[in-house]
Amino acid sequence: MVIHGPNARRDFHVDPSDEIFYMLRGDMVLEYIEGGRRHEQVIREGEIMLMPALTPHAPHRPAGTWGLVIEVKRGPDQTEALQWFCERCDTLLHEVTMHVADIEKQLKSAIEQFDASVDLRTCRRCGHLQPNKPPVPQPPPKEHAR
Ligand SMILES: [Fe+2]
Repeated sequence: MVIHGPNARRDFHVDPSDEIFYMLRGDMVLEYIEGGRRHEQVIREGEIMLMPALTPHAPHRPAGTWGLVIEVKRGPDQTEALQWFCERCDTLLHEVTMHVADIEKQLKSAIEQFDASVDLRTCRRCGHLQPNKPPVPQPPPKEHAR
């Protein structure tokens, strides 16, 4: 599928198969969790990144960008998960597992439920309260070519 920025989602997606991100226009930031820590990878226009299956990831696309995402076609019985991580210590705050068949309606309500709940947004490890509309990481400007 081809996806147009901007997006403002702060949840992470856990997909049962690999995903390929290819930037057609503009640059994006892909956050992902590996080894219990949050990492940020900038994907520049024309670059490709493979996100391995079951790696929690959150794509951030500024306005005016276009990206191609290639995924394996999934069956209705497969599940995918949304996860939220503490912005201070990367502890898992909340997780919702959805069947692919119901994903369109479950996705929106899962995000609304998390944003509306101070309890879900409060980290049990460090006590940080996640804002319900935290800032979205932006790709840094490109360095000038020499
Ligand atoms: Fe925390």
